[in-house]
Amino acid sequence: MMNNPVPVITIDGPAGAGKGTVSRRLAQVLNWAYLDSGALYRAVGIAAAWEGIGLDEPRQLAECASRTNIKFITQDTDEPKIYVNDKEATAEIRSELAGSMASALAAQPAVRTALIALQRSFQQAPGLVADGRDMGTVIFPEAPYKFYLTASPMERAQRRHKQLMEKGVSVKLDSLLHEIVTRDERDANRAVAPLRPADDAHIIDSTSLPIDSVIERILSVLPSHYRT
Ligand code: DC
Repeated sequence: MMNNPVPVITIDGPAGAGKGTVSRRLAQVLNWAYLDSGALYRAVGIAAAWEGIGLDEPRQLAECASRTNIKFITQDTDEPKIYVNDKEATAEIRSELAGSMASALAAQPAVRTALIALQRSFQQAPGLVADGRDMGTVIFPEAPYKFYLTASPMERAQRRHKQLMEKGVSVKLDSLLHEIVTRDERDANRAVAPLRPADDAHIIDSTSLPIDSVIERILSVLPSHYRT
C-alpha cells in the first residue's frame, strides 16, 4: 500500500447498510476493481466448517484463512459468483449463518493478519473500491477517499428482510434485527480492527436515502477525472 499509487475508495460500515450494492455499482461506474472483504471472511468461515474447524481454534482458523483459495467471477448482471477451494459457494456465502460465523472468526487477530496481503493485492490500476469494516482504518489507511455508510438497525433489518423475501426465504424481522445488533456489537467491540469510521471518512446515513442518492453523494466528493 505504502508505495502503491493506485487510488482506493474505502466504504466501511455495519452489516446491511448497503455497502455491497453501493460499492459494486460505484466500481462499475468508475470501471475499477471491487474488493468485497466481508466475502473473504465469510469464505474462510465456510471453508473452516467444511474442514470441521471450530470457531474456538484460532491457530487452525488462521491456517485455514491462509490456504483457502477464494475466487470471484464477475458477471455482467447481478452479484459475482464466489468459489471457495474451487467449489461454488455463492448462496452459502450470503447466508445469515455465514455472516455470523464470519463476524466471530473475524475477531481473531491471526485470521485478520492472514487476510491482509490478499486484500491489498486487489489494489490494481486504474483503482479499487474496497468494502468492509476496516478498509479505511487498517487495510488502506492512505486511501484518498473514505466513506462510512450507516443506517438505523431497524432500517437495515427491514432491507435485509425484503431481500430475503424476494429470494423466497422467510425469516422473522425480529430475529434479523437481533442478529444485526449482535453482529454490530461484536464487530465494534473487538480488540483488533474494530468497526469504526476512519477520522477522515465522510459519514453517510442512508436510513432515509435511496441507494442512487448515496452513490450520487459519493460521486460528488470524488474528483471528476476518476470517471474518465
Ligand atoms: O460485510 P459482511 O456482512 O459480508 O461481513 C461479514 C462479517 O465479516 C462481518 O460481520 C465482520 C467481518 N468483516 C470484518 O471483520 N472485516 C471486514 N473488512 C469485513 C468483514
